[in-house]
Amino acid sequence: MPLIEARNLPRHVGIIMDGNGRWAERRREDRSAGHRAGSSSVRRIVRVSRRIGIEALTLYAFSFQNWARPGEEVDSLMALLHDYLLSERAEILEQGIRLAAVGELDSLPEPVRMLLDALCAASAHNSRMTLTLALSYGGQEEIACVARQFAREARAGTLDPEHIDAHLFASRLPSQRVGAPDLIIRTGGETRLSNFLLFGSAYAELFFSDRLWPEFSEADLFEAIASYQGRQRRFGQVVEY
Ligand code: FPP
Repeated sequence: MPLIEARNLPRHVGIIMDGNGRWAERRREDRSAGHRAGSSSVRRIVRVSRRIGIEALTLYAFSFQNWARPGEEVDSLMALLHDYLLSERAEILEQGIRLAAVGELDSLPEPVRMLLDALCAASAHNSRMTLTLALSYGGQEEIACVARQFAREARAGTLDPEHIDAHLFASRLPSQRVGAPDLIIRTGGETRLSNFLLFGSAYAELFFSDRLWPEFSEADLFEAIASYQGRQRRFGQVVEY
């Protein structure tokens, strides 16, 4: 297991969980089997993140663009999400995890939305770790939505356009409620952000793993954190050597 320092942990970690489909194809199983295995990885990584003291974990579980996947795959992902919310409810509450969700949540099937809302509400006072599920989420769509709100407020005369700056955007973006991500991990070998946390990722450290999400282990998470801890964050400033 790679060694990590307890005092220099990324406060907020975002994960792009990629590679479920390829994992399943390699085993000659259908894609839904890959997502099912991916769901077990979610459990494993949520547990260890909480245990080591990560304050906020944001998981890219379903993108706005994922609705264009074959209906059968979308259905299986929604069913998995439903099962996850049911089966993890007790553990999330017992472990002091606050569940949150970002994205166009109105598009989710009603039963999923109901379970999600209920668990978000029931866990709202937990403070050990905030687990945010990005569902029907797109970073561009999220920014456009806030821009639309600003335009409406400016038209109504309640917002001076001169007051719109990066801080105001950050204060309005749902994905930024837990602050900007310090570390973004993407599994599955691709090296892009795919519309995840676009605003908040401005100064995030990026870690790309070749591991497919269903096989992403505690040790892989530790490797990503150890890599983060070896980096110097400058936020556009100069640091003296
Ligand atoms: C990308 O892999 C993954 C997704 C589109 C969905 C992620 C979903 C889960 C990990 C399981 C359900 C989530 C929860 C919170 C219970 P891909 O299908 O694009 O893989 P590929 O690139 O190998 O085809």
